[in-house]
Amino acid sequence: MKKIIVAIDGHSSCGKSTLAKALAKTLHYAYLDTGAMYRAVTLYFLDNQLDYNDPAAVEKALGEIRIHFERVDGQNHTFLNDRDVERAIRELRVSEHVSPVSAIPMVRRAMVRQQKEMGKRRGIVADGRDIGTVVFPDAELKIFLTADADVRTSRRHLELAAKGIDAEWIDIRNNLLERDRIDSTRADSPLRQADDAIVIDNTLLSEEEQLEKVMEQVRRVMSDE
Ligand code: DC
Repeated sequence: MKKIIVAIDGHSSCGKSTLAKALAKTLHYAYLDTGAMYRAVTLYFLDNQLDYNDPAAVEKALGEIRIHFERVDGQNHTFLNDRDVERAIRELRVSEHVSPVSAIPMVRRAMVRQQKEMGKRRGIVADGRDIGTVVFPDAELKIFLTADADVRTSRRHLELAAKGIDAEWIDIRNNLLERDRIDSTRADSPLRQADDAIVIDNTLLSEEEQLEKVMEQVRRVMSDE
């Protein structure tokens, strides 16, 4: 059967990765977490006390950063220069800097180049902010996901708690709204709905219902191919 690309974009913490992982598993496709790549770059700046407002420091850092993904205990883990950073990149200190870092055109160029390379084989489910608009504008299926801000905050709070990361509900809420603002208003590839994207508001949907809605679209696309 022909392999397609599924692009999932949307606001912060609205369940893009949950949906993307479930879909990748159902379709036996690879899952590409592009947000993890921007988080890994941010972690590198923080851990090495580098100023990301200094273009020379950014250029040097990008030459030193290698990101790859590996399966660890059945989960997709992000590696930064061969170190498993899956847990560290989810911490609030990274979330607080990732939007300004990901707004830097040099950073975006480097990440998008790598993402396009990973998509060459197709058979991929990728989630992020610019997947359907910039990274894979030719994706056969584009989903734009959104949900109510309080619901998103509570989901993120639970997700972090499950990972043993302690954070205040209100701090999480402020962070995700601030990220939405920066991500949607930046000059270089802002978060926006692709013209041919299908919008899903999952505020009142269970994970199973959400997956089923998207699988309906996958079946439609496959039968059109
Ligand atoms: O999906 P996430 O919340 O882990 O992403 C973290 C940040 O990375 C997000 O606030 C904006 C940025 N990002 C981006 O600019 N482009 C992408 N394709 C994915 C994420």
